[in-house]
Formats: sequence, structure tokens, C-alpha cells
Amino acid sequence: MESYFAHSILKRASDKGLVEVHLHDIRDYSVDKHRRVDDYAFGGGAGMVLQIEPIASCIRKLQSERAYDEVIYLTPDGERLAQRAVNQLSLKTNLIMLCGHYKGVDQRVRDLFVSREISIGDYVLSGGELAASVLADAIIRLIPGVLNDETSALTDSFQDDLLAPPVYTRPAEFEGKGVPEILLSGHEANIEKWRMEQSIALTRQKRPDLLQ
Ligand code: 6GU
Repeated sequence: MESYFAHSILKRASDKGLVEVHLHDIRDYSVDKHRRVDDYAFGGGAGMVLQIEPIASCIRKLQSERAYDEVIYLTPDGERLAQRAVNQLSLKTNLIMLCGHYKGVDQRVRDLFVSREISIGDYVLSGGELAASVLADAIIRLIPGVLNDETSALTDSFQDDLLAPPVYTRPAEFEGKGVPEILLSGHEANIEKWRMEQSIALTRQKRPDLLQ
């Protein structure tokens, strides 16, 4: 987690002062001398459950320092993440992302503190940290100034519910394999039209669900 935020595009964004990411270890809010933050589930069953007290203390301390737009809990049973939610969240000012572990957090954390629950896909990770990094990356790259023109988010796959068209660069021929003639024509309007047609055809072929 630390190392992820220390490199990558997020590093550039925070160096430029466009975003601040703060990591908080709920163990620092434990009242237990062994810094424990989990316990056995009431009613039995395998797996430990993260306790409410350290999480409540941590969230309350953060909320006393600034207003948060959302408290997001990363969990495999949350709403499946898609670009629409990323776009919405990129317009917010302050977000808390709470990462689960083990069997998850005490249900009362979700009832009392969480405004939105997000999963990054239908598979299970060992903890929410990677999911939070994925969500943070997707949000932060949309903040104006984070990407330069060459990597503009405006033409991303998914930005218009369409997959991006194929792209090519030099050389114009590699071992006998060329590139679509139209891209070398210099005719901007035709190129735009071709790209849109490619996008629609690719989406129909690979992700027809996006066109519903
Ligand atoms: Cl948010 N957490 C975990 N542990 N696993 C996941 C996930 C989140 N999203 C997909 N799998």
C-alpha cells in the first residue's frame, strides 16, 4: 500500500499538490495492550472480525479534522465498481476508504459509519488494501492536471460506455504487417469516423453488455 502510493501516477499527483493520500492504521486506535483490532465472531464460525471501537475512533478523529463526502467500505459484497462511480467520486473533495480484512468488519461499522460499499470485481482478495489502491488510482487519474494531454482520460475505454479503438505507432510496417491505411491518410474527419466505427464494433464483439 505505502509503496504503491510512493510510486506510480499517484506519486506525481501528490508531488504536484493535486491530491493528498493519508494512510491510517486502525491498530493505532486499539485500546488493547497488544494492539489487537479483531476478535472471534459472536455465534461462532471460522475467521476473525474487525472490532468497531478502533474503527469508530479512527473515523471520528478524521471527521473532527475535516468534512468527508463519503466513507467507502471496500468489500467483495459491495456495489461492483464501474467507471460511472469512479467519475462521481472524482468530483468529491474528501473520501475515507475503509479496508476490510479477515471476515470483514462488525456489521455495526457498516450501519453507523459507511455511506457506500464498493467491490472491485467478483473475486476475493485477502484484504481491501489492494481494492482501495485500485479505486484511488482510478479516481486520482481523473483529477485535472494529473494526466498530461498524451494520456488524457477523455478518450479512455469506458468513458462513453465504449471500448477504445485500436492504436498504432511507428514503424508503419513491421515484418510485412502494416497499419490501417486510413490512419496514414491525414484526413481527420475520416479518421474520427473510423475510430468511432471501430469502437462500436469492438464493443459489440467483446462487451455487448455495455451497449444494453
Ligand atoms: Cl473491495 N475486498 C476484498 N477483500 N476482495 C475483493 C474486493 C474487495 N473487491 C473484489 N474482491
